[in-house]
Amino acid sequence: MAETTKGIVLAGGHGMRLHPMTVAVSKQLLPVYDKPMIYYPISLLLLAGIRDILIITTPHDAESFVRLLGDGSQLGVSIRFAVQDAPRGLADAFRVGASFVAGDDVALILGDNLFYGQGLEAMVRQAAARSEGATIFAYPVRDPSAYGVVELDAAGRATSIEEKPSSPRSRLAVTGLYFYDGQVVDIARSLMPSARGELEITDVNRRYLALDQLHVSQFGRGVTWLDTGTPDALLQAGHFVEAVQNRQGWKIACLEEVAWRKGYIDDAQLARLAARIPNEYGRYLLALLG
Ligand code: G1P
Repeated sequence: MAETTKGIVLAGGHGMRLHPMTVAVSKQLLPVYDKPMIYYPISLLLLAGIRDILIITTPHDAESFVRLLGDGSQLGVSIRFAVQDAPRGLADAFRVGASFVAGDDVALILGDNLFYGQGLEAMVRQAAARSEGATIFAYPVRDPSAYGVVELDAAGRATSIEEKPSSPRSRLAVTGLYFYDGQVVDIARSLMPSARGELEITDVNRRYLALDQLHVSQFGRGVTWLDTGTPDALLQAGHFVEAVQNRQGWKIACLEEVAWRKGYIDDAQLARLAARIPNEYGRYLLALLG
């Protein structure tokens, strides 16, 4: 199978931990400093060379996402939408998105995960180029018990993966970015709900581990991985983006810029997008054109 060209962004869920912020607005549409949260995961797919995107949302949020992103043509990509009628776990993305995947390789990224750093693009491009099995990304965190946790042997191969273990076997959290080959839909369909009633992505990864087809890439200190699941984490992510952007003068996860740099849109298209945003953000886009 060739390079991964398809990607799913999972933007469902109730966002319970962010209520009342997320009663009327989808969590993945909340701002992380100067742009909607979902810009961050979408930008990573674009950096990986993925231009065929499915966004999975709740029934009542779908319309807002369409209003924000349209069909993606303004960014030179294809964005489609599917609705998950109830949150059934991350692995349900492959049941909801089965006809989109259609047996091809596919990436999955969680709509509330933010990645930033040197070398990131090369790493995700490498994962996209891998034609067999699954690739997950491990990241050291202080408290891994809130995440999927992977244990590695001396050669960097996974020896175990556990979901939110009370006694983690390593400090390596499994981030919300996954690359799978075409087997993933059948694997997801064969899963049983876990004790918390969810189809766990960790069980998908375990299946690949059992097949000896699980590749683990390790993000080091040069990469920042943040999630935005609590009010504190959301605010910290916003402060992080503000600090880096205002220091460097470059925006993080500016979809219009990424699409232009990747050659998905040309100068005239970028200028048109800039003209629609009559503020600092639009002026930033215009300034890119020199
Ligand atoms: C999910 C996954 C977990 C992963 C995390 C990354 O957890 O179940 O394995 O480490 O995303 O953000 P959740 O945050 O949905 O509970």
